Amino acid sequence: MTSFVCRLPACVLLSAFFLPTTPSVAQTHAAHVTNRVSSADAKMERFVSALMAKMTPREKIMQMEQAAGHEISSQKADELAREGVGSFLFVTDPARIHALQKIAVTESRLHIPLIFGYDVIHGYHTIFPVPIALASSWDPGLVERVQSAAAREARANGIHWAFTPMVDIARDPRWGRIMEGAGEDPYLGEQMAAAQVRGLQGPVVGGPHNILACVKHFAAYGDAVGGRDYDSVEIPETALRNVYLRPYHAAVKAGAATVMSAYQDLNDVPATGNVWLMREILRKEWGFKGFVVSDWEAVKSLQIHGFAASQEDAAVRAVKAGINMEMTSTAYADHLEDALKKGEVTLREIDDLVRPILEMKYRLGLFDNPYIDLNVAKQETDTPAAHALSQKAAEQSSILLRNEDHALPLSKSIGSLAVIGPLADAKMSTKGSWSQHGDPNEVITVAEGLREKLPNAKISVTKGVEIRRFNASVFDAQMPEPAPTLLTEEARNAEFQHAVDLAKQADVTVLVLGELQNMNGEHASRAELTLPGKQEQLMEAIVATGKPVVLVLMSGRPMDITWASKHVPAILNVWYPGTEGGRAVANLLMGDANPGGHLTVTWPRSVGQVPIYYNDNTTQLPEEVTYRYWDEPSTPVWPFGFGLSYSTFSFSKMQVNNWTVTENAPLRVSIDVTNTSSVPGTDVVQLYTHQRAGSASRPVRELKAFRKVSLAPHETQTVTLEVPAGELRYWSGSLHRDVLEPGIFDVWLGDDSTAKNHAEFHVKTVR
Ligand code: NOJ
Repeated sequence: MTSFVCRLPACVLLSAFFLPTTPSVAQTHAAHVTNRVSSADAKMERFVSALMAKMTPREKIMQMEQAAGHEISSQKADELAREGVGSFLFVTDPARIHALQKIAVTESRLHIPLIFGYDVIHGYHTIFPVPIALASSWDPGLVERVQSAAAREARANGIHWAFTPMVDIARDPRWGRIMEGAGEDPYLGEQMAAAQVRGLQGPVVGGPHNILACVKHFAAYGDAVGGRDYDSVEIPETALRNVYLRPYHAAVKAGAATVMSAYQDLNDVPATGNVWLMREILRKEWGFKGFVVSDWEAVKSLQIHGFAASQEDAAVRAVKAGINMEMTSTAYADHLEDALKKGEVTLREIDDLVRPILEMKYRLGLFDNPYIDLNVAKQETDTPAAHALSQKAAEQSSILLRNEDHALPLSKSIGSLAVIGPLADAKMSTKGSWSQHGDPNEVITVAEGLREKLPNAKISVTKGVEIRRFNASVFDAQMPEPAPTLLTEEARNAEFQHAVDLAKQADVTVLVLGELQNMNGEHASRAELTLPGKQEQLMEAIVATGKPVVLVLMSGRPMDITWASKHVPAILNVWYPGTEGGRAVANLLMGDANPGGHLTVTWPRSVGQVPIYYNDNTTQLPEEVTYRYWDEPSTPVWPFGFGLSYSTFSFSKMQVNNWTVTENAPLRVSIDVTNTSSVPGTDVVQLYTHQRAGSASRPVRELKAFRKVSLAPHETQTVTLEVPAGELRYWSGSLHRDVLEPGIFDVWLGDDSTAKNHAEFHVKTVR
């Protein structure tokens, strides 16, 4: 077997469309590249056209099918490879990938290689923090490096295509998949979407250590009614364009090779059969040239939705909408030939859908060298560099939510520590959901991290309470949670009391509470945001001992910890921190790392406030913003953008460098940020604007720029942030088009969405 070397010059020179849009590239160089690019594209086009000329309609249709490798027998998979199926997903054994590829390349009539896809969501074997955590770093460069490392490991193991990034905006933490995205904000979502695409794909599609990105779930899957996964989405065009569609568009602009259609109805039309979404917006308006894969059985589901009359109709509707590849159901394979014969679809339509799939295989270099090297696969798996990056990412994405009287960091000379909670030593959950291929045995838990860090301290570890889901998770087979051990009421009470006793005896208790990984992710919405099981009671009992307590919260969504926000002196939210999570948490608790994360979601007081987000419109009684409920404040516990540090920061000398902003003169605002402590640390400078009047009401604040800065003790840096006029455009609900409107705007700078440093500027448009 030879190692994967992309010998086609085409692999590194392909289409201008797949080059990231970097306006700074020198014009002459750009022209040179464009010429080479178009000749490479022309070569690819000739190759693919020649191949398509040899293909029967059946062979084309089979290329448009993706089969679930883990759900069929190996004999069936071999047959499909021989028959020329386009792709497999969920085949992870490199030797099996090689074997299937060999069948496709040597035994199928036209020798077309397979493309292997997988959910490389936050790592392949080395698991990084979950996406909402990565976004909480507010560091697109870090996120890019993480996805690049994930791509490298996956590619060496035979995976060509990641079903990532998930860029669905989520304003409702009941929705279990909030964990897979970047949170509630469109601007932050855009930055994180583009960073992930760059990391996965590299500068140009086809790099030997990169994989294809897949932007999902197009579109607006995150706004399911009631936060119930898969439920319909009803969003007016204003919110779609100003909020929900923006991160997908950013990912497409960054060159994303593929897009995944969402499961659900969008304004009554299922996304997978939605011609407006897939053809008008994605292809016509945004110029997307890659291919669209349906979500799992989403073509078949067009009938279940009450949209298509039959499976044949479902296949036809998906073709009309422009779904190039069908994931796991077989409506295309079973019905498209008949539909062709009846004239319900044309060969031209099929050709248009199959071409981008073949082009992508060509771009990946698969026609040239489809195989992997098993030795390289081993070398590139679980490398020390990837593990170090995973730990750094976990440190940078953990958010210090409370730290009264410097409760943290803990003293290094601590004598005894109780590490208590169902997540204290939970390997599967520490790596988080959507990490099926990550080996739980490789994971360092919080208890293990602390033991390693404090070899001389007396550390006792216990669960205190057990938690579990009431109903099965769809991932139980792949990511089973350990079976409960406290089977009787008596055993449960004894364990609870044991935990409280340990807390009484220890100098400090670290409570590790939250949700098991299977309590969020797909098919894992919740009606409550409270800590599951008796965790709240355990926490209150341990706080009542009067001994020092720190809460480490591990979950994929903001939770109702309102009591803790007043009674537990230190709260560190670590999301699901990944393979090296325990080491990262130990470093953070002991002050060997300084928390750098900031919230990408507004943190509700209770589930009754949901959906709650910072960028809403004002009401006629803006001053009563805190009391729109009579039974609790309508403000959150912690605002979007919030995050503490062991350092402290102050802001001064805010300056708007240009009063008038035009299409040619961006807003430029600077501010001095000072680290007022003796601890080196990072802060996130965030810029928010508000348009005072226009053809439509505008949100009270909108994030328009940010920068993460590192400051030495007592250092001051002047940070200048720039906002191009284009960022101030929006889609007007009264004019039904995109506008940039003249007038006065407010601008705030600070380190969360309640930032107080304020100035004004003025937008002048050229007519
Ligand atoms: C269904 C999920 O919605 C999607 O995110 C995932 O990529 C596919 N299944 C494949 O596992």
